[in-house]
Amino acid sequence: MKRQLFILLLAISSVYVQGITITHGPYLCDMTTDGVTVVWTTDLQGPAWVETENTVTAEKADYYEVVAGNIVAIATLHRVRINNLKPGTKYNYRIFTKEIGLDLATLSVNYGETVASNDFSHNPLSFTTFSKDKKDISFVVLNDIHSRTDFMKELCNEVDFKALDFVCFNGDMWEWLLDENMIFDGCMDAAVEMFASEIPIVFNRGNHETRGPYAIPLINYFPTVNGTFYYQFGIGDVCFLVLDGGEDKEDSHPEYFNLAAFDSYREEESRWLEQNVVCPEFQNAKARIVFLHIPPMVSTGHGSLHLQKTLIPILNHAKIDVILSGHTHSYIYREADATSNFPTVVNSNKTYMLCTIKDGQIRVEMKGQNPLANHTHEFQIKNRK
Ligand SMILES: [Fe+2]
Repeated sequence: MKRQLFILLLAISSVYVQGITITHGPYLCDMTTDGVTVVWTTDLQGPAWVETENTVTAEKADYYEVVAGNIVAIATLHRVRINNLKPGTKYNYRIFTKEIGLDLATLSVNYGETVASNDFSHNPLSFTTFSKDKKDISFVVLNDIHSRTDFMKELCNEVDFKALDFVCFNGDMWEWLLDENMIFDGCMDAAVEMFASEIPIVFNRGNHETRGPYAIPLINYFPTVNGTFYYQFGIGDVCFLVLDGGEDKEDSHPEYFNLAAFDSYREEESRWLEQNVVCPEFQNAKARIVFLHIPPMVSTGHGSLHLQKTLIPILNHAKIDVILSGHTHSYIYREADATSNFPTVVNSNKTYMLCTIKDGQIRVEMKGQNPLANHTHEFQIKNRK
């Protein structure tokens, strides 16, 4: 009898795997005035949810990752979209994943332990939604880290992340993407340690993030509301365009092994951009800032030349205040001229850009450990409509 009981317990424990832990995250993506997406991973699969608490009204709500009515349960990467929030409002939040076991013999589901982040009475995580009423805006842009995690931490040593609205990853944060570990070891664990559980990431792909087998699932780690790497968001009366330059060489270059189709991708993106720049949110903004990893008017590679044909003619008629780029690994400033009627600021791979928008002015400071590498630009917002 005892032996039978032991066998039974063994059978159950093979359905429940022992314990569950949060392995990476949480971090915040795709912040808007009414929502945000929370991303984290666990070592075991299970349904995941986020509980929020409005710090003004104390109202609480739960949000699950749901696909067409089904709660996503067989996953270790959790991406929970929180919608219908109040703008400019601080929310505490808590993440949960409940271990799940599938008993194929009985076609049933068994639940194990639940893992969670801090509860609301013990130093909870929090975020503040974007607001259309915000007057002063500040953000940091990082680019071309190329998986140098320790360097990134050192570079950001003096950044006051809590004072920022967001942090933009403006491309080539990784060297290339072989697997999930590279995403976290190469950058994201450090980002979570520094800011990303409470300050949202604006993710913009660089050409190096198009490389390796994990380039395709990368969007799952940085979900966007429209499901693409190019999108738009607004804070206060400023509109931000996140544009994807794709690869920097010809699609036929031997480095891509006949696996690149970025010319047609940029053409498709330009059709989206054409539609987007006439939308009221874009048209009614007082300032328009573009993030684009490859500086189209500075580099001479195929990617840049193709961007000059596809995106630049549209941007030239879109009253852009400034383009913020990377890619060249060196600081460059290019004035507006007859070919592009907006200035371009290129951040090096040794500095970060601290950007503040205040009193009708956009201020872009390159900051790093080497004072010689530091430069500042100020742009009067022309408030063009
Ligand atoms: Fe690059």
